[in-house]
Amino acid sequence: MSEVLRTALVKLQALVGLIGLVAITPLLVFAAILSRLIAKLCNCPKPKSIEGDVAVVTGAGHGLGRALALELAKKGCHVAVVDINISGAEETVKQIGETYKVRAKAYKTNVASHGEIAELNAKVVKDLGPVTVLVNNAGVMLHRNPLDPEPADIQLMIDVNLTSHFWTKLVFLPKMKELRRGFIMTISSLAGIFPLPYSSAYTTSKAGTSAHMRALRTELALENQKDIHVSTVMPTFLRTNDEVTQLSNDIGICDLYPLIPGEEVARRTVDGMLRGEHEITLPGLASVFYRLIYLLPAEWQIKISLLTAASRFEQFRKSRS
Ligand SMILES: NC(=O)c1ccc[n+]([C@@H]2O[C@H](COP(=O)([O-])OP(=O)(O)OC[C@H]3O[C@@H](n4cnc5c(N)ncnc54)[C@H](O)[C@@H]3O)[C@@H](O)[C@H]2O)c1
Repeated sequence: MSEVLRTALVKLQALVGLIGLVAITPLLVFAAILSRLIAKLCNCPKPKSIEGDVAVVTGAGHGLGRALALELAKKGCHVAVVDINISGAEETVKQIGETYKVRAKAYKTNVASHGEIAELNAKVVKDLGPVTVLVNNAGVMLHRNPLDPEPADIQLMIDVNLTSHFWTKLVFLPKMKELRRGFIMTISSLAGIFPLPYSSAYTTSKAGTSAHMRALRTELALENQKDIHVSTVMPTFLRTNDEVTQLSNDIGICDLYPLIPGEEVARRTVDGMLRGEHEITLPGLASVFYRLIYLLPAEWQIKISLLTAASRFEQFRKSRS
């Protein structure tokens, strides 16, 4: 077959595929909405128990990480409270001890260091037992200069928000595989789906970590590790970090959707993780919305984001220039 004919056939095949996709889109949308409704109504499958398990929660000395550590303790899980800020971690341990009858211990660890994560694992196994719940929460969000970010700030964001999840996976997953059970929850962000202008390192790190977790889920399925669950959490702006709250107020993001308290995110996501949900967006409707947007051509996607938020980001750009 000539090269020209082969190219024409490949193009025709792609065109037929595209027409097919457009034709079944309304059906897919209907099925997606219906499946979410059914899942909500049935509240199924039943959540698994993690009573007596050991969880490692990174970045648990503040904000969402602290709320997640408390929520896991509420479920009866012993918690290794990990943070680069040890006094914050100790405060979380204190709060757990005041309310729940589980063991909790603070560990000063920089998640960007593979060596420190390996040391952490050895200590946690000795103090609390083998880790079967891993929460990758530690994250850094703000550039000192968003319009012209320092190389060191870009590197830090990639190291903490993205690379560290490879280190925790390398260190904690082998034991889960050996025990053939476990939970990995990774805190990504809606910014990984709807890009945040002037936060490209953050956006990239969060999109990367969502892709990382999809790849991991597929690997576990190939290895028939069906009792190791991987949940990716993609929230909108939260009321957990004062600087982020200030930024959201400055640019009026909270007029689009109110900031969500960390405790609410922790309740929803720990419940979702225990039910084996793969991807959790907050608000939930964002999961339908982003799938619809992704069906559109790339230039339409940009037009829609400009329509909804251009003035807010223009305001942000001016305020920082
Ligand atoms: N705040 C938001 O609006 C928002 C929105 C979407 C997603 N998220 C994500 O949620 C997660 C938690 O955010 P938050 O608002 O609670 O942040 P936060 O700043 O309140 O808390 C983050 C914690 O991580 C710790 N940390 C930072 N670097 C670390 C490192 N190298 N090693 C160990 N610990 C480190 C900090 O000391 C801090 O205690 C982050 O991954 C963030 O990207 C936040």
